[in-house]
Amino acid sequence: MNKREFLRTAGGASLSLFFTPGLWAKYAEMPVERLAEEEAFWLTIRGKYRLKPDYINLESGYYSMQAQPVLEAFIARVREINYEASYYLRTKQVPNKAAIRDQLAAMAGCSPGELCITRNTTESLDTVIAGYDWKQGDEAVMCQQDYGHMLAQFRLQARRHGMINKIVSLPIDPKSDDEIVQLYANAITPRTRLMMVPHIVNITGQILPVKKIVDMAHSKNVDVMVDGAHAFAHFEYKIPDLGCEYYGASLHKWLGCPLGTGILYVRRDKIATLWPIYGDYRMTEDADIMKLNHTGTHPVHTDLAITSAIAFHNAIGARRKEARLRYLQTYWTSKVRGMPNVVLYTPTDPARSCAIANVGINGMDPMELAKYLLEKDKIWTVGYDNAGVKGVRITPHVFTQPKELDKLVAAITRYAKHAPVGD
Ligand SMILES: Cc1ncc(COP(=O)(O)O)c(C=O)c1O
Repeated sequence: MNKREFLRTAGGASLSLFFTPGLWAKYAEMPVERLAEEEAFWLTIRGKYRLKPDYINLESGYYSMQAQPVLEAFIARVREINYEASYYLRTKQVPNKAAIRDQLAAMAGCSPGELCITRNTTESLDTVIAGYDWKQGDEAVMCQQDYGHMLAQFRLQARRHGMINKIVSLPIDPKSDDEIVQLYANAITPRTRLMMVPHIVNITGQILPVKKIVDMAHSKNVDVMVDGAHAFAHFEYKIPDLGCEYYGASLHKWLGCPLGTGILYVRRDKIATLWPIYGDYRMTEDADIMKLNHTGTHPVHTDLAITSAIAFHNAIGARRKEARLRYLQTYWTSKVRGMPNVVLYTPTDPARSCAIANVGINGMDPMELAKYLLEKDKIWTVGYDNAGVKGVRITPHVFTQPKELDKLVAAITRYAKHAPVGD
């Protein structure tokens, strides 16, 4: 990317957020893989976050905190809406939200008419699963590694409509993309209508070859809904390039928005086929995505802060962020992979993962490991004992430093040697 392109994508107004023009010029010319290791750059970004000194936060997967400029903008919005009250809601709410939707659509690479702002991935995907026109005997395909509450929503549909769910299980280190595509293909029958595919598995960080899965599904007339809860603003892609019919993501994860922000993408030709969950004067057959978005009076200031989070994200640059996140993950996983008693539940191929990874210690309960890491090593993580994974999820962020990950590596090395566990 040349400097002009960089300035354009970063947005001129964002430059002063981080660096003097001279420094930006230097960083703009640096290849992203080199910049990923440029600690002075990332230290400046880290300075934009308020980090609790009590522990090293390696659990940005659940909720990734807002950077201070985003938080301040959010608080200003809360005051502004409270000040204008119903005047704001009646005169500015709708056009402002539409403008934010335009910005998100530009980021996602889709048309604004195919996107709506939701509260989170749960709302987005449930809108599709529960809005689908299921008939008795219809089938859906999903995987054991999908998010539990999404699987539960499919079970509800099975009870309510008599549809049938087929569940496959993903290998962590597939020999090729084809192995994964074939797994899904094998579960499809003439009754299959919809497949749910995680863009990135939340507990292991495994990124799936979504486009190839979608192409296979379409060759068999099956629709695909992608769970992108952890993907949006984490690594680079455009939703339409995946080819899927439906896509849901949370913005309070990798975009660093306030809690309660998400997106739902529905490919234009599919909008009219979904039943809305909440009543709206727009009817089922309407091809207006807003018919799926009638959640009543809601915290509009939360939506408004999305603009500030996008500006912050663009000021770093999506490719720089992705390269740094992958660098941080491989920085620590490469140090513990292959160590006796250490099990990594994340693919070996760096192209199949980004920030998120998961590590377990043979014979150690993952919740205990998370507890020890917090109490003895002051490292905040989360333990998972689910879908064959028995480890703690490690999620660094743009504010994470390699020296913090060195502490994690030292702790894992110690636990792997069975010292001082159990005292
Ligand atoms: C894969 C996946 N899907 C869906 C969700 C639900 O996201 P939210 O709680 O933001 O609705 C999560 C939450 O972590 C997730 O990891």
